Amino acid sequence: MKFSIPKDFLWGGAVAAHQLEGAWQEGGKGPSIADVMTAGANGVSRQITKGIQADKYYPNHEAIDFYHHYPEDIKLFAEMGFKCFRTSIAWARIFPRGDEAEPNEAGLHFYDKLFAECHKYGIEPVITLSHFEIPYHLVEKYGGWRDRQLIDFFVHFATVVFKRYRHQVKYWMTFNEINNQTDYTERFLMATDSGLVLDDDDPQREALMYQAAHYELVASALAVKVGHQINPNFEIGCMINMTPLYPATSKPVDIFQAQKAMQRRYWFADVQALGTYPRHMEAFLAANNLRDDITAEDRITLREGTVDYIGFSYYNSMTVAAQKDNPEFHFVGPEAIQENPYLKASDWGWPIDPLGLRFALNWLEDHYHKPLMIVENGLGAKDEVTADKQIHDDYRIAYLKAHIQAMEDAIEKDGVPVIGYTPWGCIDLVSAGTGQMSKRYGFIYVDRDDQGNGTGKRLKKDSFYWYQKVIKTNGQDLG
Ligand code: BG6
Repeated sequence: MKFSIPKDFLWGGAVAAHQLEGAWQEGGKGPSIADVMTAGANGVSRQITKGIQADKYYPNHEAIDFYHHYPEDIKLFAEMGFKCFRTSIAWARIFPRGDEAEPNEAGLHFYDKLFAECHKYGIEPVITLSHFEIPYHLVEKYGGWRDRQLIDFFVHFATVVFKRYRHQVKYWMTFNEINNQTDYTERFLMATDSGLVLDDDDPQREALMYQAAHYELVASALAVKVGHQINPNFEIGCMINMTPLYPATSKPVDIFQAQKAMQRRYWFADVQALGTYPRHMEAFLAANNLRDDITAEDRITLREGTVDYIGFSYYNSMTVAAQKDNPEFHFVGPEAIQENPYLKASDWGWPIDPLGLRFALNWLEDHYHKPLMIVENGLGAKDEVTADKQIHDDYRIAYLKAHIQAMEDAIEKDGVPVIGYTPWGCIDLVSAGTGQMSKRYGFIYVDRDDQGNGTGKRLKKDSFYWYQKVIKTNGQDLG
């Protein structure tokens, strides 16, 4: 057995269609949930408007116009030495309304060209099927994933793209960060994960979340099954947001709260990787009357459609403490989250914790024994362009270096099987959480601001050359 970074390790970068493509109405594309989200700011939530309103600014409509710039951008990825490129297929480019029988050929053709461009440089596309971009029509007409019919629409979409790209794409993921909706008090997370646009005081929020999540899990399992029939060599993964939840103190109640919080955030991965609901969730759903429409056939599907690998995002850890008025340690999110005094945070308040990545990798290996792919990691930060058009982003290099080191420790010292690393927002794009351009993650700077002004010109940051060297040395020279 070798405990080192494999020779064919998938170094690359990650994005999502709605955050960079723009061209929101070109090539027959329909609007998605992301197209009705306004720009927020640091600490200011994005609004989800009813339809598109003329007096509002929607940053995803144009984003960084990757739709027209992709040859130039892929060329820059190739110059960095990318082995893979993670993006999503915008569902509403293929099925503009989501419930049509026939796909939109112009949408399919765009991804033919995009994947061909990747292969021209030996870059393997890694594709997410649903990354916060459900067609808006499915939200308006069906209320998003609360409706069981969405399973058929999604599986139809998956089948069409699996068939079309069966020779172009090997690595797939079903739903991006399917477990973000654990925090069902957050409007944005419910809308992006499941197309559930709900009032803050809607008493059904929790029940709808569990129902929607169940339909998504069944749809995910069916997609895995269909995908393997179409091409047995497909590698189809889940994608969860992995935020380890630490206890705030060594008090047993805090430690137990942290354990319950981990169960409540990661049962999604249990279902997708192990094919069955864990017993703690069965007990919780039964005790709280949240078990609504789950059939015996669904359970068979879940067992038959387990994923090949675990894709996950890692940005930070969180710390939780038991709450006095919560004797059963129920976990939703904000109320239990504490500041961790041992960690510094980014300008957007995200704790910076490289060892947390090694913890996450070990935890996932302990639970699932499947290959792991880190499909998002990175630092959202403000960048400054100097007079001579340089971007000295040493803070980003420091963040990534520490996290890659933690990943290498997990591979070499803990024996964790990691197959790839695709840092988030390898080219600057629209932030999902805030709609800002100024929250930048990229190795490549894009001249565009929070109001949509700018030339759109691409510039290489210092981190571009640093990452190029990391890939060239297969992670041996972290600088
Ligand atoms: C993940 C998402 O939650 O984090 C991405 O999969 C998102 O879509 C990324 O962009 C970073 O979050 P944000 O809010 O800084 O864009």
